[in-house]
Amino acid sequence: MKRALFAALVGFLALAYSVVGVNTLHAAKITIACGPGDERSQSCKNMANEWAKANGHEVELFVNPRLSSDALGFFQQILAAKSTDVDIFMIDVIWPGLLAKHFIDLKEYIPESHINAHFESIVKNNTDSKGRLVGVPYFTDAGLMYYRKDLLDKHGHEAPKTWADLERISKDIMAKENNPKLLGFVWQGRAYEGLTCDALEWIDSFGGGTIVEKDGTISINNPKAIEALDTARSWIADGITPESILNYAEEDSRGVFQSGNAIFMRNWPYAWSLAQGDESPIKGKVGVAPIPMGGATGKHSGALGGWQLAVSKYSKNPEAAAKIVEYLTTKESQMRMAIKHSNLPTRPDAYEDPKLAAEAPFMVSLLDTFKNAVARPSSVTARKYNRVSSKFWSEVHNVLAGKKTGAEAAAELEKQLERIKGRRW
Ligand code: GLC
Repeated sequence: MKRALFAALVGFLALAYSVVGVNTLHAAKITIACGPGDERSQSCKNMANEWAKANGHEVELFVNPRLSSDALGFFQQILAAKSTDVDIFMIDVIWPGLLAKHFIDLKEYIPESHINAHFESIVKNNTDSKGRLVGVPYFTDAGLMYYRKDLLDKHGHEAPKTWADLERISKDIMAKENNPKLLGFVWQGRAYEGLTCDALEWIDSFGGGTIVEKDGTISINNPKAIEALDTARSWIADGITPESILNYAEEDSRGVFQSGNAIFMRNWPYAWSLAQGDESPIKGKVGVAPIPMGGATGKHSGALGGWQLAVSKYSKNPEAAAKIVEYLTTKESQMRMAIKHSNLPTRPDAYEDPKLAAEAPFMVSLLDTFKNAVARPSSVTARKYNRVSSKFWSEVHNVLAGKKTGAEAAAELEKQLERIKGRRW
């Protein structure tokens, strides 16, 4: 009896081993870099794993730096070394011109109908000069103004239409609330790509252009842009924004706002689902509006952001990786990420789904704001974009720190950008 049992066990183990053995021969481990290891990147990995598991594969998350500018440097090193460690990269909307040559053409693996179901402008942004599609849109982004609806209501204010409104409302509520911890307006003032986005919004909202225009003209040195930069400095000088803003990235401003210590916050849509989380002290107290205009003749201007999924040319499993990219960019997957993490979908069909308006009303009510978001000059400056942006954010940082006036910084930038441009972009 014992011997029969033993033989059966050996037989079972041999069978199990051979099954596992066969599987490991074909199974691939796909590594995806889609964030800094926070909940949103875990959701990305878990979702990718659904497709992988159903197809006998497995997905691993490759944790990357949180800030866009840091992630870029990190990815550039990995790609320059032709490393096979990462198969799928989540790339910023401003990177295709910098990184295209390291990615496969996803059109070879993903049906055209799937690609064409995404906003045409983003697909175009992700297509290189040779017509190769280097990234499928994963989610889009636009700068938004978050405000404490409860505090504005209590003191009889509407959401601000202009920057002057925002300043006036901040001062009024700060004076009346009598809470020394309460700040007026928090945003992203650290010297990095996030500051380029915030400052582009101020400048464009005053009608001061987009640093470098679509035809390649360097436009930064103009009176409206200068007025915008000096206005931002005045928020710090007037005390509605703390000096420490010079070191704030997105998560720093969200930390302050979400703990109830700021009236206004400029941030991306992701902050909504966190502010509305069960643990959030400001749950149910938050309003979302377009970025204020620079005066009555200005305009509402949110910077265009967003992330794409790209497959490395050095991947050992490009086909499985591309299929995962396809799975993560279906309407169903984008709806799940929109509802759970307020990622803005990149597909018109998601905006038509009533579930989106029910979960995150601003996603549908501000659709025009998203569609008209102002792009950074990454297409026209292409491979030189990162140099342009880092000069820009450094000079803006100097103005915020009170080291230069808006006029001095704009004149200096014009000179430096002409040098980077050379004869052509
Ligand atoms: C957001 C945007 C991205 C931008 C970054 C700057 O992640 O989606 O496009 O570059 O913020 O911090």
